[in-house]
Amino acid sequence: MIVLGIESTAHTFSASILDDSDILSLESDMFTTIKGGLIPRDVAEHHINVCGRIIQAALEKANKKITDVELISFSQSPGIGTCLEIGALCAKALSQIHNIPIVGVNHCIAHLEIARLLTGFSDPVMLYTSGANTQVIAYQEGRYRVFGETLDMGVGNFLDQFGRLLKLGFPAGKKIEELAKKGSKYIELPYSVKGMDVSFGGLFTNLSRMFEKYKVEDLCFSVEETVFAELVEVTERALAHCMKNELVVTGGVGCNARLQEMCNIMCKDRLASFKPLPAKFAVDNAAMIAWAGILKYNVQKKSDSDLTINQRTRTEQVEVTWR
Ligand code: FE2
Repeated sequence: MIVLGIESTAHTFSASILDDSDILSLESDMFTTIKGGLIPRDVAEHHINVCGRIIQAALEKANKKITDVELISFSQSPGIGTCLEIGALCAKALSQIHNIPIVGVNHCIAHLEIARLLTGFSDPVMLYTSGANTQVIAYQEGRYRVFGETLDMGVGNFLDQFGRLLKLGFPAGKKIEELAKKGSKYIELPYSVKGMDVSFGGLFTNLSRMFEKYKVEDLCFSVEETVFAELVEVTERALAHCMKNELVVTGGVGCNARLQEMCNIMCKDRLASFKPLPAKFAVDNAAMIAWAGILKYNVQKKSDSDLTINQRTRTEQVEVTWR
C-alpha cells in the first residue's frame, strides 16, 4: 500500500511516502532562527510556505504521483494548534480532491511505532525527548502509557531556553552539545526528579541567575550531565517497573551522543538492549506518521470519521487497535 504521511506538529513540516514498511522518501523543512525562539505564528507561516514543495518533493523522490497514493496519514495530535491545522488542511484537501482514504495519528505513538519498525524491538520502553515532549512511554494493558514525564517544559524547550540565555539561536541543542564536549568542570546544579517525573523550571531559573559567572563550556557540560542523569534515572525505573528489557531513545534530544551513551551504560548494567534511532527518524518526521497510519488503517480498513486536530491528546487516551 502506497501511503503519504504528513507531519506538522511543531517546527518541522515533513512529508514521506511509504510502500508498506519500505520508506521510499522523506522530505522535511524545519523552521529555524538565528536569534530568539519559536513563535507559533511564524512557524505556521513557514509551514504554509513550504507544504506544497515538500509534499511534491516526497512524491517525486519516491517516483510516485498523488494518484498512486492509497492512504493519507497526518499528525492529528498533540502539538501547536496552528501548525497541526496546516498539516490537517493539506491532508484533507488531497484526500477530498483525489478521493484517498485518510487517517489521523498521534505524534508520540508514531515515534514509538517507527522505533519498533527500525530497531526490530518488539516491546521497548521509549525515552521520548523533544522540544515539547519529554516522556517515558511503554505499552501496557492495551495502551501506550506514560510512566514518567516532565512536570513543566520539555527537555528540548529547556535546552532552547538555556540556549537563548547564551544567545545560541533556535534550535540550540546541537550547539550546546558541541560546547559541552569542550567543558570539563562540573558545576553543581539543582537535580529535580519527583517520583517518576522530572522538572526543569527550577534549574532554568537557577541558570538564569548565575550563568554569567561561569565558562559557557562548563555550563553546557554540567547542564547535559544533570538533565540527562534525571532522564536516565526515571527511564531505568520504568524498565524495572514494566519488566521490559529493550530501550529506544528518540526525539530531537535523543540524537545527543552523551544521552545515548548514558542510556547505553544504564542498559548494559541491567542486561537490557539499547538502540538509538538514526537522527532523521528520531526527529519529527513524516515517515513515522505514514507508518502509524498504515498500522491503524490495516485494522479499521476505512477513513477516520473524526479528523479534528487536538493540541493536547494524551498518549494513553489513544485506543491502540493494532497490537
Ligand atoms: Fe516529536
